Amino acid sequence: MRMTIWAAVAGMTAMAAVPALAAPPQGETLFRQRCQMCHTDAPGARNGVGPNLSGLSGRTAGTAANYKYSPKLAKSGITWNSKTLDQFLTAPNRMVPGTRMVISIPNKDERKAVVGFLLKGKK
Ligand code: HEC
Repeated sequence: MRMTIWAAVAGMTAMAAVPALAAPPQGETLFRQRCQMCHTDAPGARNGVGPNLSGLSGRTAGTAANYKYSPKLAKSGITWNSKTLDQFLTAPNRMVPGTRMVISIPNKDERKAVVGFLLKGKK
């Protein structure tokens, strides 16, 4: 019985700690509000209107499994990291003219929070 309680407490503590370490919590909220209608971030989940965005850190643009990208993004050769995502989300069509991704995040702090959430604390 005592073991069970401790396991539960440890589990709750770990759950509470993870978002704070991985990314500002605001990033996840913004993602759910502005991106989730088109994108999932769950590994292995089906693509939506936009591709699955799990494991984005270090991923080459246009390579999510079973997603039909625009030729422009598929051939862009971009590697996703904090710098390239910041640039893309500032104005997707300026970085990749002809991309079908049209949603930008004009606010710098909000952009940083969402990028942090997508990269799960990696660069
Ligand atoms: C209205 C639907 C829609 C919304 C909302 C949307 N996206 Fe997209 N996104 C797309 C589409 C469609 C693509 C594929 C673009 C292409 O093929 O040119 C895409 C592509 C991307 C890519 C490139 C992924 C890859 O595999 O190379 C990233 C990163 C991305 N979106 C991030 C975001 C973020 C962050 C948000 C929220 C701020 C967001 N998107 C909101 C539709 C959307």
